[in-house]
Amino acid sequence: MITEQNLNMPLMKNNISRTDLDAVIAYLSQDDPPLTHSRQTLDFEREWSEWLGVKYSVFVNSGASANLLTMTALKEMFGPGEVIVPPLTWVSDIAAVLQNGYTPVFVDIDRRTLGMDTTHVLDKLNPNTRAVFITHILGYNALTQQLLDELEHRNIPLIEDVCESHGATFNGRKLGTFGLMSNFSFYYAHHMTTIEGGVICTNDRTVYETVRMLRSHGMVRESTLGEIRSSYITNHPDLNPDFIFAFPAYNMRPMRFGAVIGRSQLKRLDQNNKMRQRNLELFLSRLDPSKYQTDFAVEGSCNYAFTLVLNEPETALRDRVEHTLRQHGVEFRRGLSGGGNQLRQPYLRRIMGNEFELYPNVNHVHFFGWYIGNYPGLEEEKIEALCQRLNHL
Ligand SMILES: Cc1ncc(COP(=O)(O)O)c(C=O)c1O
Repeated sequence: MITEQNLNMPLMKNNISRTDLDAVIAYLSQDDPPLTHSRQTLDFEREWSEWLGVKYSVFVNSGASANLLTMTALKEMFGPGEVIVPPLTWVSDIAAVLQNGYTPVFVDIDRRTLGMDTTHVLDKLNPNTRAVFITHILGYNALTQQLLDELEHRNIPLIEDVCESHGATFNGRKLGTFGLMSNFSFYYAHHMTTIEGGVICTNDRTVYETVRMLRSHGMVRESTLGEIRSSYITNHPDLNPDFIFAFPAYNMRPMRFGAVIGRSQLKRLDQNNKMRQRNLELFLSRLDPSKYQTDFAVEGSCNYAFTLVLNEPETALRDRVEHTLRQHGVEFRRGLSGGGNQLRQPYLRRIMGNEFELYPNVNHVHFFGWYIGNYPGLEEEKIEALCQRLNHL
């Protein structure tokens, strides 16, 4: 029931269903269920690849791990240099760039897509650019045809972080199918979940084999290609063929029953996403456009959160918004994705100094933007009531 005081809107609700849990229980009830290596992971990877429209997927233990393995694969395949990144993203995107010895090159966002502004990206491309690592923020597509064409022309890899945008499209094609590699997160609060989990997707066989090895200590036997395994074995006759480590890598293997949950969740992802799209449309259509931004790039979008951004930098209105949301039990996060401008965070201030001042669009959403939960079971009347309250401020 909706009371005057309490709309009771958490960031996410009921994202794991009884059916998902029953699937895990059935799996674990088998006699001696496979808990380390199992077909479940491969089956989930195959089904996810089919759903997305790519050849290969590698399931890992988080979206942050997907970011890290992606940047490590890039380094192993393309060598050192610069990677172009947005200041509005999650910490692990930037951390992955830094941890692999890349120089992050920042560009401001476009207020409508919340992703990197294509013109600014193009300005920063140079012979040292090893990749453009784009983040599709909260379900909005950040790609443009101009960006895709220019990167193809210059032979610069595109990497897509789609951790917040499962199912969103550009020109009718799913995000995560355009880049050399793409990353998704299956954390509980996202479009679909394996509780913790993530995936790296690609159409490139070399990337696939490299990422499979990187996921598991850099071990050569993880490669599915006989030529890769036999060339290492032949070149290293002093080594036990079971223990040849091609790269200094990590253990980022997922819990196997995560794949059981993922397979169960995938069956209803499209249906859930339709409800989320309907909810977002309603939310944006009811907000007062004289106070709040309503012209987001919604075409092909698929959000698990409502984006609420003030048109103007009005501190008093911002305080009233936060007070009202708290008063009515509406959970929110300020700064949109990842707490806002990453350049303001201590880990980047230490190396980039005051560069955070240079990007007005990301600074605006840092101080005057929020996200609010958008989950399939969210009642229309709550969305209407929320907008009414916001419009009265
Ligand atoms: C854009 C983006 N990238 C990466 C991640 C990291 O994913 P995870 O929480 O699964 O590690 C997140 C997390 O929310 C994210 O929003």
